[in-house]
Amino acid sequence: MRRTLILFLVVWAGLAWLVCSARGQDPQSDSRPAYLKVYLPASAHLLVDGTSTRQSGELRRFESPPLTGGKRYVYSLKVVWKENGKDVVREREAHVQAGQETTVDFRPADERRVVRAQAPEDRSPDVIFVPTPQEVVDKMLELAEVKKGDVVYDLGCGDGRIVVTAAKKYGVKAHGFDIDPDRVKESLENVHKNQVEKLVTIKKADIFTLDLKEASVVTLYLLPGLNVKLMPQLEKLKPGSRIVSHDFDMHGAKPKKVVRVKPEGAEREHMIYLWVVPWEKE
Ligand SMILES: C[S@@+](CC[C@H](N)C(=O)[O-])C[C@H]1O[C@@H](n2cnc3c(N)ncnc32)[C@H](O)[C@@H]1O
Repeated sequence: MRRTLILFLVVWAGLAWLVCSARGQDPQSDSRPAYLKVYLPASAHLLVDGTSTRQSGELRRFESPPLTGGKRYVYSLKVVWKENGKDVVREREAHVQAGQETTVDFRPADERRVVRAQAPEDRSPDVIFVPTPQEVVDKMLELAEVKKGDVVYDLGCGDGRIVVTAAKKYGVKAHGFDIDPDRVKESLENVHKNQVEKLVTIKKADIFTLDLKEASVVTLYLLPGLNVKLMPQLEKLKPGSRIVSHDFDMHGAKPKKVVRVKPEGAEREHMIYLWVVPWEKE
């Protein structure tokens, strides 16, 4: 059954509010917002479910109030702009889901290509997905001494196993980021399957653009060069924050501990490196 629900969409930058409607189910208190990105000609006027919005520019961002996890909500978008003195009108539906970012692009194809080339979150992954064995995940979180109040970030979260484990085992907030939309989808399914939506968020993002100041524990399974590339961001973590890396060190930073784990039946030993911020230079 489809019902109309009045929602408040908040402009990300906090500049304005707009009221619009979405067709879906009632939001619950334990649910999460959905994120909507709309690309359109800079001068265009945007209406969401018939309600005018106040933002301007080529990219308009919105955040919904908390929505029920795993359900799809639909907004109707209408964009109007002038071309050669005539009104151009385009209409589309935006399908959004709790914890996910949806992009709708109304621009002509040639303009789209230019911006897509610049959008950092639209490029391909720097390293392919290889999951950390569960025993190694457990050891990484143990080595980081995760405790109540910690906020865990997994940079390149794959199928979400590290953030899901952090939430389930330690009851802490955990945020996963991945540039690959398939991994984001997989992580969200994992979060949903394990019913940790209250504690875990998953976002599509390029990890090199993230502000990590909220994190107190950062987990990595990337490559040595990528760990080094992250150092300027990791250096800004609060003192006492822990960084754990599966298999790869971070040249220039002396680890506080290095442990080896050989999961049952595994062919090889896995290394785990721990640093505490500020780390000792090598
Ligand atoms: C080796 S997997 C690790 C997955 C998970 N952290 C684990 O330990 O099971 C690396 C992940 O990083 C993601 N990734 C690669 N480059 C990225 C980037 N620049 N920004 C965000 N994610 C990225 C890949 O898509 C992949 O899922």
